[in-house]
Amino acid sequence: MTEKRFKRTTVTSALPYANGGVHIGHLAGVYVPADIYVRYLRLKKEDVLFIGGSDEHGVPITVRARKEGITPQDVVDRYHKMIKDSFREFGISFDIYSRTTSETHHKFAAEWFRKLYDEGKLVEETTKQLYDEEAKQFLADRYVTGECPHCHNEGAYGDQCEKCGRDLSPTELINPKSTISGSTPVLKETKNWYLPLNEYQDWLKQWILEEHKEWRPNVYGQCKSWLDMDLQPRAMTRDLDWGIPVPVEGADGKVLYVWFDAPIGYVSNTKELCEKEPEKWGDWQKWWQDEDTRLVHFIGKDNIVFHCIIFPVMMKAWNEAERRTSPLGGTERGFILPDNVPANEFLNLENDKISTSRNWAIWLHEYLEDMPGKQDVLRYVLTANAPETKDNNFTWKDFQDRNNNELVAVYGNFVNRALQLTKKYWDGVVPACGEWLDVDRQAVNEFKDVKQKVETLLDQFKFRDAQFEAMNLARIGNRYITECEPWKVWKTDPKRCETILNICLQLTANLAIAFEPFLPFSSKKLREMLNMESFEWDQLGSTDLLSAGHQLGEASLLFEKIDDDVIQKQLDKLEATKKANEAAQYKAAPVKDTVSFEDFEKLDIRVGLIKDCQKVKKSKKLLQFTIDDGTGTDRTILSGIAAFYDDPSVLVGKRILFVANFEPRKMMGIESQGMILSAVDFDESLSVVTTTKDVKPGSQVG
Ligand code: 2FM
Ligand code: ZN
Repeated sequence: MTEKRFKRTTVTSALPYANGGVHIGHLAGVYVPADIYVRYLRLKKEDVLFIGGSDEHGVPITVRARKEGITPQDVVDRYHKMIKDSFREFGISFDIYSRTTSETHHKFAAEWFRKLYDEGKLVEETTKQLYDEEAKQFLADRYVTGECPHCHNEGAYGDQCEKCGRDLSPTELINPKSTISGSTPVLKETKNWYLPLNEYQDWLKQWILEEHKEWRPNVYGQCKSWLDMDLQPRAMTRDLDWGIPVPVEGADGKVLYVWFDAPIGYVSNTKELCEKEPEKWGDWQKWWQDEDTRLVHFIGKDNIVFHCIIFPVMMKAWNEAERRTSPLGGTERGFILPDNVPANEFLNLENDKISTSRNWAIWLHEYLEDMPGKQDVLRYVLTANAPETKDNNFTWKDFQDRNNNELVAVYGNFVNRALQLTKKYWDGVVPACGEWLDVDRQAVNEFKDVKQKVETLLDQFKFRDAQFEAMNLARIGNRYITECEPWKVWKTDPKRCETILNICLQLTANLAIAFEPFLPFSSKKLREMLNMESFEWDQLGSTDLLSAGHQLGEASLLFEKIDDDVIQKQLDKLEATKKANEAAQYKAAPVKDTVSFEDFEKLDIRVGLIKDCQKVKKSKKLLQFTIDDGTGTDRTILSGIAAFYDDPSVLVGKRILFVANFEPRKMMGIESQGMILSAVDFDESLSVVTTTKDVKPGSQVG
């Protein structure tokens, strides 16, 4: 465990890809915890910088652009704005939210690459890569799909199989297909530059496995499993036309690998901010290259390898390059490594994996439309269910319960009682505090403890437990007010009632402070209701936050009950998505080869009236039909549709279509004289085809 006292903290949160909106999974996994942490540090008056931004390169963006017939720049412009707006609306308090298409970033990332290249930190290698001859393009990562060599999932991508989760390279896929043209790619030689991760393996083992045993078990465990295998050099360039051009001669048509440039985005965005407001922030090196600065990366579990292995190696390589070239021998400067990487697991939605492609998500922009003003409710529920140690689940029912039973019934209820009684008895003026009784001392002692508890938990990145402790303040308050019954005491002993309410109001002010990192909108509202100018973390636990005679502001409800119909609407919306997905899964089979009219006419299709229909004994599949075919003699036809009609008698009396000149066949000892036409649904279930009018048996179909 690092005991070092740092002077400042640089907090980064993963840069989301600007190829779609952000959803509750992003919020729960990365942005809410990062924001809680940063708000907490700010409230403690610590020096902290919170970096965000959009990740605007990479193949998924070009794939989307191609699909929509627009440019990648159009895609990122649209989604960068949308994502930035969503974050602002949810109170994610970045000091800067920039983008990796910025000029500062392009320049800085290219310089970084060039520095490693010049100092021989990259390995140049010519390999055979998949190439689409129709599209005249190398097929990086997601431009190829095929069969996974491990689990044989047929829809694996060139960089990863989503079914078994294995990392892949495009050339490993069985039966690869280009997603651009659908053609089978060929192998073609190309040159790329690799980061030799293998050369840093021992160093990584020492730094993570020996020196950071305090990291979350999921993060430490994932690093360990990577480091227990032999690390391989990883290509830092791609044959692609969207991204930062590789700043090396002879690298036309190549760009930096998105995972090379994206983490550098944290530094470029810092640089942009420091250049804009130098008095406030100083120089960027202060935040990235000073031993007194602590670096914390908030990410989701799929980003662990990039933040714990690849980016640290990039920084280490930069430092080595810098030391060699610096005129001073250069030991004075170098990137700091992350002190912690509190990565979260994933959040599921209604027991199903959140998926952008299946639209199985709650998008923030839609939530804001459907639930205006309820940002804190979502923040609260996502933290209460944060996937900190394992994947977790969001359900609308739980959302409603937590709102109604915790925010409204516990927090809101206590605050409302304290403020309404003060308004009623003292016209909204804080009453004086008299002598404490045992019951007061006990309550005060309990809530004095909360500061230490919340602090310890937040320092350990245990956000859900920390929020639970904050809510305990309100539980303590409710117990206290119920026990003291100020509404009764008022009549018998108004002085005593003053003391009780004074304590309730101090507790209310404590709640506003304790919840500020978690529920910033509600804390602001509560602060205004209490008519407090500001507060800070150190005041938590104090019983002197509001002095006697202080005039409170206007009181209103902090939270509102959410009714069943509001929740039902959200469930209906998800149900509709599920239906649409199911329908989209099935595709009509390709149309068969054309047939001539003459060929068609060879088939003698007729209408038959079902006179009887029975299951054939000892056969699971066959039904035996007795048909009136208009000839005056009954016709027997067997059809393999028994599995789809539990009670075949329902078919009696229906008119069906049959092929009258189908070659007679014997099955289970019975001769079948024709074939009954059935529709084969997408799920392969069968249904006989009927007429909409009572057409005479024996009528021809054509
Ligand atoms: O997984 C993602 O969404 C990536 N865009 C995260 C990038 S984090 C960082 F390195 F910028
Ligand atoms: Zn697989």
